[in-house]
Amino acid sequence: MDYKDKEALHSNISPTTPHLETLKIRALSEVCKLIGEAVHLDTTLARVLQVLHDILRMERSSLVLHDPKKNRLSIKASYGLSVEEERRGIYGLSEGVCGQIFQTGSPCVVPDVNSEPLFLNRTGARRISKEKLSFIGVPLFVENRPVGVLTVDCLFGPEVAFEEDVSFLNVLATLISQFLVLHQAIARKEERLVEENKTLKAELHSRFNRHYIIGQSHAMQEVFWTIEKVAPSKATALLLGESGTGKELVARAIHEASPRNDGPFIKVNCAALPENLLESELLGHEKGAFTGASSAKPGRFELAHGGTIFLDEIGEMPLLLQSKLLRVIQESQFERIGGTRTITVDVRIIAATNVNLEESVNRGQFRSDLFYRLNVVPVSLPPLRERRDDIPLLIDHFLRSSNERNDKEVILSHDALDFLVNYYWPGNVRELQNLIERLVILADDLVIRPMDLHEHMGRVPNAQSATRPAEIATGPATTESFSRPVSPSSLRDMERQEIEAALRRNGWVQARAARELGLTQRQIGYRIKKFNLVRPSFALDEPQ
Ligand SMILES: Nc1ncnc2c1ncn2[C@@H]1O[C@H](COP(=O)(O)OP(=O)(O)O)[C@@H](O)[C@H]1O
Ligand SMILES: [Mg+2]
Repeated sequence: MDYKDKEALHSNISPTTPHLETLKIRALSEVCKLIGEAVHLDTTLARVLQVLHDILRMERSSLVLHDPKKNRLSIKASYGLSVEEERRGIYGLSEGVCGQIFQTGSPCVVPDVNSEPLFLNRTGARRISKEKLSFIGVPLFVENRPVGVLTVDCLFGPEVAFEEDVSFLNVLATLISQFLVLHQAIARKEERLVEENKTLKAELHSRFNRHYIIGQSHAMQEVFWTIEKVAPSKATALLLGESGTGKELVARAIHEASPRNDGPFIKVNCAALPENLLESELLGHEKGAFTGASSAKPGRFELAHGGTIFLDEIGEMPLLLQSKLLRVIQESQFERIGGTRTITVDVRIIAATNVNLEESVNRGQFRSDLFYRLNVVPVSLPPLRERRDDIPLLIDHFLRSSNERNDKEVILSHDALDFLVNYYWPGNVRELQNLIERLVILADDLVIRPMDLHEHMGRVPNAQSATRPAEIATGPATTESFSRPVSPSSLRDMERQEIEAALRRNGWVQARAARELGLTQRQIGYRIKKFNLVRPSFALDEPQ
């Protein structure tokens, strides 16, 4: 609309007409409503200006706010300006009329922009013409300090005194200022929360994440909580869980978070050595203690002095050695094999097992006194299939590090991720970590699909049952995977479905389907044969 039309439109409005009062009230109530429902600053401000246009037919308006970081005024919202014009609307703090209003904190009326030298027309929106074109601006205040300027072209037309326009704009400016105050408070609160969240995360990271223990599941949160509780003390911890669930990782994290973290962390695998060697490994020996002992050797307990000893697979320790271990734990003293000198050590003990020690005790394979001595703080690491929520996080973590190590950018397709989340994971996190590493190294495509899993996971004829260890498979149906549908049932099915779908999409033109799947014609031919896929008689040659 051109200025002349506007003049005509407003020519019958006078300050005393009830019509004008009604319009003003309508406009203000609309603005209040908008502000009341507001979520986003920018869009709400733009909608406020839109209301001024819709109800009062004001042609152009802009809301200029002070940007404290850049120390300048810039347009935050506008009506009637193009994006380009809006972008140009940036002023120094004392530049032009806007700057003057901001500096003085007083409204300003330019009855004729053509004869006002201060009027910069920076946006270029007001074409300089012979017509008299007015401009009114009022300041916005927050806590008595100017924060911006609301500007409009003449609001109520030439018949109405400028004072009328200014007083109405002042009311509006007060409303907008209140909205800004509220918005600033929310933004500050949000900033604080983000900061707080960052600090908490950093704390958590610095404590455990040197070892990158990933897990958001309830079970893992409990593990984190226990690590935190147990770490500062010297209490013996017994880590329980299937192989590959992260027992060693947790043992290291406990040591790392403990006051002994400057001391050594010594690991002994109790299943790896025969009885006599294990004893000498733990306690050390003097020169000539047995055939082959050509020199004295300190044992692992000595080496762990001032730090932590991690006795892995403690359930495999021979009974006789168990009693010797019990003495070391209880008295912190022992003699090297073949030696008479009593050695005193200060060592924290963390043991781990993947067998049910209570059952071993019942069967007479594990000393009950040693069991109770070790079981001071038990920490259970649930199998991966019982904390499937953690699988995507772990995959993301392992993909990231494998990609980095191998200088690749491999990602997983949704189907492949779905499959991995529902897989049984008999080898737990270790199996997942190894699989991802293998997939990344061997991937010749950017995206890993179910059929790549099929190739790299080896023989997985049916993920639901065949990969489940026998003793668990025949146990009570308590694990989550029993109650949770695994869909689709196997990698083989997924691969078949994927190929069939691609063929269907491509009208059974093998070359096209192969291209879509990133396969060679030979590869797709092989798979079509393997799955015995036959083109239905009604299939079209052309893709639909
Ligand atoms: N929660 C986890 N977050 C990240 N990596 C894990 C996690 N649990 C296990 N791993 C990794 O899986 C592998 C096996 O873990 P490990 O602690 O040796 O298991 P366990 O001692 O129970 O057999 C290790 O490479 C370990 O870093
Ligand atoms: Mg282990």
